[in-house]
Amino acid sequence: MARLQHGVIWSRISGRPEKMGDLVLAEKEASFTYSREWLASGQPGFCLLGDGSIWGETSVVYPVSERIPVFPRLLSLIPGNNPRNLQRRHYLDLLRRQSGREPPPGIETEWQLLLLGGHGGIGHIDVFADDLTAARWYDHNPPPAAADAERRSAQSELWRMIKREVLDENLDFDPQIIEEALGPTPSVGGMIPKLLVSLDPEAERPRFFPPDTPGMRNVVLKIEPPEYNGLLDLEALCLRIHRDAGFATPDWQRLDHGGLRLLAVTRFDRDAEARPLPMESLFSVIATGDHHFRETADILLEELGAVIDRLGQVAALPADTNEHLYRRFLLALLTGNGDLHLENLSLLGGLDDCRWAPVYDPAPMRAWPRHNLVSAIPFDASGHDDHGAFFIDLGRRFGLSSRRVQRCVSDALAATEGYADAVMALPQVPKRQREQLRNIALRERALLQRHLRD
Ligand SMILES: Nc1ncnc2c1ncn2[C@@H]1O[C@H](COP(=O)(O)OP(=O)(O)OP(=O)(O)O)[C@@H](O)[C@H]1O
Ligand SMILES: [Mg+2]
Repeated sequence: MARLQHGVIWSRISGRPEKMGDLVLAEKEASFTYSREWLASGQPGFCLLGDGSIWGETSVVYPVSERIPVFPRLLSLIPGNNPRNLQRRHYLDLLRRQSGREPPPGIETEWQLLLLGGHGGIGHIDVFADDLTAARWYDHNPPPAAADAERRSAQSELWRMIKREVLDENLDFDPQIIEEALGPTPSVGGMIPKLLVSLDPEAERPRFFPPDTPGMRNVVLKIEPPEYNGLLDLEALCLRIHRDAGFATPDWQRLDHGGLRLLAVTRFDRDAEARPLPMESLFSVIATGDHHFRETADILLEELGAVIDRLGQVAALPADTNEHLYRRFLLALLTGNGDLHLENLSLLGGLDDCRWAPVYDPAPMRAWPRHNLVSAIPFDASGHDDHGAFFIDLGRRFGLSSRRVQRCVSDALAATEGYADAVMALPQVPKRQREQLRNIALRERALLQRHLRD
């Protein structure tokens, strides 16, 4: 790798593109320096703990490692490294075409991927190679509406691409047409194939437009891969359970199109005027604050309350921030979602108006044997009779009184009362997954009920 890599961060948080500062990646350290104009504007920084009000003119630094090779906040702007990631495939093809060689695995290629796909994604920051590239991109974003015929052909190419990449159907498509009509699709994290697009809310059949197209609804469009048959029906059910339990939840729509199952979830990282809002995962917040933290397993569930308390010393957090988190873990336990990891919990806003993002990705992954973990975030239940007792005690570790804990647990039990039956009533979910999930949900429920009585 060249000794130093340079990039820039821009943002449209004010409604127009402005430069935030300069990014440098050296062998052992990433650094970011705010522009004077950005500092003077008082706008939120690129991440909560790297905010300009904390660092001022001093460069924000982070010791990079193989696991976290850039600032933690930038990780979600690099397409995930899994075989079905549409953006990674698309950008690797682009790099291959540009350089005429196979992009070598490692940080150099990851950095290229960040520069190619790290703008227009989730949250308020856009990464580019340099200011000129940034200005050019904003000039064409969102791209002018394509002519109808052109758009039709792009839509059909896009469906072909998705079918080939996700369903392994042997179809050819022309990436050039997709790119011209949709623009390079921004990176987005997570394991399930997905696209950031906008959808015509009026159209009968789903029609895609580039993100932020005026008059369209910005969505995260998740595409069900065959190895997780039924996942999106289960995810939609869990969104409903969370909504009915009183959690803020984005609107969603389950669509079927040409043999593909889709879940379009309205994006909540844009305000009513379509301006981007800062959004940062709990993973990124913890990793930025604690340089020894490198992966989800480096922290215990019972330590998260203290992490939120520490964050509350620099950010204005609502009084019920810990309680909300506790309630999320209870509902995850009772719905068989063992996958509530630190990337599936995010904060919206800057230091002055920081709050939990609405619920996303509540999929009950324990339906699949290889994801059948009580919790992706490890915990130590050795001092308890079983993990049911641990989860009750977790409320105390989050600073809640025992009356409050009882209330949270009984609310979660009430919200999931009909859950096992609702799972069994989903005809498109394979029987094996439904039965596994029902049994898990009933077992977890019985455990909590028993301890609640004690
Ligand atoms: N409605 C939304 N609005 C804004 N951002 C979202 C929304 N839904 C998801 N995201 C962002 O996109 C990322 C990926 O989405 P999601 O977690 O649903 O995907 P996934 O592939 O199921 O993830 P995982 O790997 O955890 O299973 C999230 O981590 C979050 O940053
Ligand atoms: Mg996720």
